[in-house]
Amino acid sequence: MIHPRHLFEDRGQGHVFRYFDELPPAQQDELTRQALTVDLDEIDHLVEILVNNPADSGITSHNVEPAEYISISTREQNPQQWQQAKAAGEQAIRDGRVAAFTVAGGQGTRLGFDGPKGTFPVSPVSGKPLFQIFAEKLAATEKRHQCTIPWFIMTSEGNHDDTLSFFQEHAYFGLKKENIHLFPQGTIPAVDSNGKILLTDKHLIALSPDGHGGSLRALVRSGATQIMKDKGIDILSCFQVDNPLVKCIDPVFIGFHLNNESQLSSKMVEKRSPDEKVGMFCKKDGSTCVIEYSDLPVELQHETEANGDLRFRAGSIAIHLFNRELIEQLGQAASEGSLPFHAARKKVPFLDTEGRFVEPEEANAIKFEMFIFDALPFADRPLVLETLREVEFSPVKNAEGEDSPETSRRDQLRKFARWLAAAGVEMPVNSDGTPKMAVEISPGFADSKETFVAAWKALETPPTLKDGLVLEA
Ligand code: UD1
Repeated sequence: MIHPRHLFEDRGQGHVFRYFDELPPAQQDELTRQALTVDLDEIDHLVEILVNNPADSGITSHNVEPAEYISISTREQNPQQWQQAKAAGEQAIRDGRVAAFTVAGGQGTRLGFDGPKGTFPVSPVSGKPLFQIFAEKLAATEKRHQCTIPWFIMTSEGNHDDTLSFFQEHAYFGLKKENIHLFPQGTIPAVDSNGKILLTDKHLIALSPDGHGGSLRALVRSGATQIMKDKGIDILSCFQVDNPLVKCIDPVFIGFHLNNESQLSSKMVEKRSPDEKVGMFCKKDGSTCVIEYSDLPVELQHETEANGDLRFRAGSIAIHLFNRELIEQLGQAASEGSLPFHAARKKVPFLDTEGRFVEPEEANAIKFEMFIFDALPFADRPLVLETLREVEFSPVKNAEGEDSPETSRRDQLRKFARWLAAAGVEMPVNSDGTPKMAVEISPGFADSKETFVAAWKALETPPTLKDGLVLEA
């Protein structure tokens, strides 16, 4: 076999092995192992199209329009359609056709939390971590429908071991270990502005996660799609690790997906302001897609309709249903028709040509990332369903301000207060709707307003509401 050193030299990337001969054998092995993970054809191609000849996004007011979506208002106008969707979704869940998938490979730098984000304590009273909330929601669905929901979790090289230990230490939060599948996403080297692969040490390539779009490849490579196939699972319910309000498995959404014979369905909420940093569902050159806030011209983001609504109001909350076949098709590494890469200029510490370690003050490198929503233009009959922000979306992204632990805690407490109110228990609230007492409802007790009302009414002696109460199963 040709040593990767020669392959790198042939591609003008021989500097990666500059220190190879002086390295101890273990470090030589490590560098060789890393080098073998690098697809040099892919790097050449990305350097050519994203570094040497970057094209602009090609997005103009002429080729982009808002995507169509199923408005939440149709739930009142056409309740039968929504009930029928719920029944179809529940049937698919009972038939064991659905698995869950969490993308949890991100580095969580904005939150400033040291550890995998899924281990962040998020529930408002008991401080359960995000992973536990999801596990309890999945357990509740399994119990209700007498089914098994395998859970795939994509980690990254940087957080895989810590994530696995966390699940082991907590005995998989009561779920069956054999139904939880953790696997790391792929990596890709960062390059400098000349397209040269960066080193972070004499034996280490500056590798970073290949973006959540890397999940499609990772699902195929890790054998997850094969597991799904063997179990007769054809729908994957995907969500991000940062949102405790997510309905991990939503029968209504699944029903709409099935009834529409969609290969990829997504949920949206109305943007809270033109400047909210979310992707937007659009149609570009006739295909449904998500365009990131940084890529859609600002004047389009501010455009309004006659009634004052934002024209581009369909904000992506990164909740999708994928058909297994679409993942199999797009997850072939570097195949024709695989997801495109995006380039981001970032600060990446590196080893300079003199072998000195440099911590740059300015962006010095280009990182390549794929985005999962770029699968939309490849999908047959993509569907976008509206949901309510207060019901399903309050992520933990920033240490402070919007989308922070504080706003997420507030939104969880408000949601629980609404459930209690629906059961006839009014909680005193502040003028902004936040309850004066912190009461938490665990997913094992109830995971929706309807199940809460039923569970509360079934209690022989309902507990007295008090600050700090946690309703458990
Ligand atoms: C993301 C979406 C945005 C959407 C918003 C909703 C992108 C580019 N943008 O923004 O359209 O409106 O969420 O909350 O995704 N992750 C990996 N591997 C990676 C990178 C990220 O698994 O290599 C995971 C993270 O763990 C996290 C999720 O992807 O669960 C989102 O990543 P993040 O970078 O936080 O995206 P946002 O900028 O918040």
